[in-house]
Amino acid sequence: MERISAKWRGGTAIGTAIVLALAAWPAAAVEISYASGVVGTAIDSFRERVKPWEEATGNTVNFVPMPASTSDQFGQYRLWLAAGNADIDLYQTDIIWAAQLADQFVDLSGPAAEIAAASFPAIIESQTVDGRLVALPLYTDAPALYYRADLLEKYGAGVPRSWEELTETAARIQAEERAAGNGDFWGFVWQGNAYEGLSCNALEWLASSGGGHVVEADGAISVNNPAAIEALELAAGWVGTISPPGVLAYQEEEARGVWQTGNALFMRNWPYAYALGNGADSPVKGLFGVAPLPAGGDDGGSAATLGGWNVAVSKYSQHQEAAISLALYLAGPEAQKAGALGEAHLPTLVALYDDPEIAAAQPIVPRWKEIFEQAVPRPSAPTKGAYNEVSARFWSAVHETLSGQGSAAENLELLELDLDDLKGRGW
Ligand code: GLC
Repeated sequence: MERISAKWRGGTAIGTAIVLALAAWPAAAVEISYASGVVGTAIDSFRERVKPWEEATGNTVNFVPMPASTSDQFGQYRLWLAAGNADIDLYQTDIIWAAQLADQFVDLSGPAAEIAAASFPAIIESQTVDGRLVALPLYTDAPALYYRADLLEKYGAGVPRSWEELTETAARIQAEERAAGNGDFWGFVWQGNAYEGLSCNALEWLASSGGGHVVEADGAISVNNPAAIEALELAAGWVGTISPPGVLAYQEEEARGVWQTGNALFMRNWPYAYALGNGADSPVKGLFGVAPLPAGGDDGGSAATLGGWNVAVSKYSQHQEAAISLALYLAGPEAQKAGALGEAHLPTLVALYDDPEIAAAQPIVPRWKEIFEQAVPRPSAPTKGAYNEVSARFWSAVHETLSGQGSAAENLELLELDLDDLKGRGW
């Protein structure tokens, strides 16, 4: 306790507030269950990260590992929460879930007032439903185009600025590398499985090509338009040419698997892959760079989908005070800084972008501030409680198009009708 308090006391006002809260902690220790998806090295880092809190409070944290897919997590959490499950105290929640699960979570606006004031306002807003702060941001997310700098240099190619350029460069260098003997080499890996990650990828293709955001901020369904159709057709052409046929089953970790063994020229992925790709035992360590995703069409710009993870306290938790204390600790400066240093997680506390240690350890973090500030939100705010159904219909239509089951034009027309039905007289 002494060691930790001293460290926190030297920190920010938020740190001090947490220490004071901890100092007043009642003696009876409890076990807190924390449910979270597991991607990369998440379990080990989490266990490491909660140690100071466990030591300071005497409580213990039971990590409940969930599947990597955010869609699978959501399905399970929704069932547990609907059944009033008291076994899970805290849930790690995706940025898009706030409106759908708000009623099941405790309002943290009071206890987290200081953290909220030190955070990016848009992120706090994304977790605020009817004035209730239903989850505290742990980190934000915005994807990058990962590229093999060594291979681009070897073949005299630039970092692609447009999807067309990416398609050409990937095809050319893939052919060269295969001719040179690497039969497993691919031009571009991304997330093509039928799940939320595909909605993120496809939103980027659409938004970067002037094809809208599926559902617009005013609730209008915009997905069936010529620019969106063209963008999807281009992506469908990647499958089996510059991207492996198996990309239709890839989530983040499968894409990273191909990339990190050195078998891909380009990858679309979130910043966590930057830390792991530069890990001591990574074959691509030091060989790659990151750039904004390519722009689409003639008048398009780069578009990155806004992601991010939060922590929410279940209203059915029987240890709410301890659960809130852990949420504050995990969303506070010490834990966010550890996430940035170790996993290249993008902090949601503004001040950490000026932290020289983070900039030195994970240079992507300060570089990505601008990218995440301009990132495109998924239409979870306008579609409210229906977002998961909207997204599931979108990723299905996209997955069918990528698999050659119907053209983009046919599938987006059907999707539009389906979304109209779902919307009824309003979201
Ligand atoms: C990342 C993002 C999250 C998104 C998910 C999709 O984890 O942070 O917001 O839903 O990827 O796979």
